[in-house]
Amino acid sequence: MASSTGVALVTGASAGIGAVYADRLAKRGYDLVLVARDRARMATLAEGLRSKTGVAIEVIPADLTLEGDVAKIEQRLAAGDVTLLVNNAGMSLKGGILENGAPELSRIIALNVAAPTRLTAAAAKALIAQGGGAIVNISSVLALAPEMFEGVYSGTKAYLLNLSQAMAAQLKDKGVHVQVVLPGATRTELWEKAGRDINSFPDGFLMEVSDMVDAALVGFDQRETVTIPPLADEAQFITMQQARLAMAPNLSKSEVAARYRR
Ligand SMILES: NC(=O)c1ccc[n+]([C@@H]2O[C@H](COP(=O)([O-])OP(=O)(O)OC[C@H]3O[C@@H](n4cnc5c(N)ncnc54)[C@H](OP(=O)(O)O)[C@@H]3O)[C@@H](O)[C@H]2O)c1
Repeated sequence: MASSTGVALVTGASAGIGAVYADRLAKRGYDLVLVARDRARMATLAEGLRSKTGVAIEVIPADLTLEGDVAKIEQRLAAGDVTLLVNNAGMSLKGGILENGAPELSRIIALNVAAPTRLTAAAAKALIAQGGGAIVNISSVLALAPEMFEGVYSGTKAYLLNLSQAMAAQLKDKGVHVQVVLPGATRTELWEKAGRDINSFPDGFLMEVSDMVDAALVGFDQRETVTIPPLADEAQFITMQQARLAMAPNLSKSEVAARYRR
């Protein structure tokens, strides 16, 4: 399987943002590797995309909270033909840290943190060896706004932003582009699965999933590292970044800051 554009592996490709990425990447000429748990849904999507675009599509059912399934996708990335990884699979929680027990907390960290970390690492190594490619990580605006949510989901997304920014800096001279996408609230099944009614959201709060992915791809084409589709005033993010970078040289010192001295 190899087209002139390359091969894109999309996790969470059976629904929502991942399914739209699959559609858009197929239309760009990428052959696809679709990864999620629901084999039947991916098979239906693949059939439609094959007949519309003629690209080759492989479907790999995998539960990315399971060690063996993550290892299977790592091996697929190591095969050496995937040129673009979209780490999109993710979940939210019904309720927050106080309402969930250990299994659910472990599960969200496995899917939203451990799996994309493992796949980013596997893809980065393969892409460097192949001489280039790209990794797209789907984070969330909640990475920048923990006060707006319950902390666990937003924390997983902050982790992914941090990882992606660090990886982008490390890989930029190795021909590997890393983009992290921060969607705001987007119309997908994620909300219903988390017990939230999107009809209760205020007017103008929710973005259509096709608009979100198309905007993210504009950012991808511009080789952005951080893409925030709903943020109209880019200067707000740039100001925050500059403030953070200006603080960076002051964050490790042998001397305790004066206000903490007795
Ligand atoms: N919707 C939003 O408002 C929003 C905003 C910011 C960020 N995001 C992020 O965008 C990404 C996609 O979410 P979405 O909104 O498109 O949600 P979605 O419609 O619920 O889709 C989630 C995808 O992840 C897959 N998935 C879930 N659990 C999985 C598991 N254990 N193993 C493998 N795949 C699994 C699902 O497929 P299966 O069920 O077939 O496994 C599905 O394809 C997530 O990372 C989410 O955090 C969403």
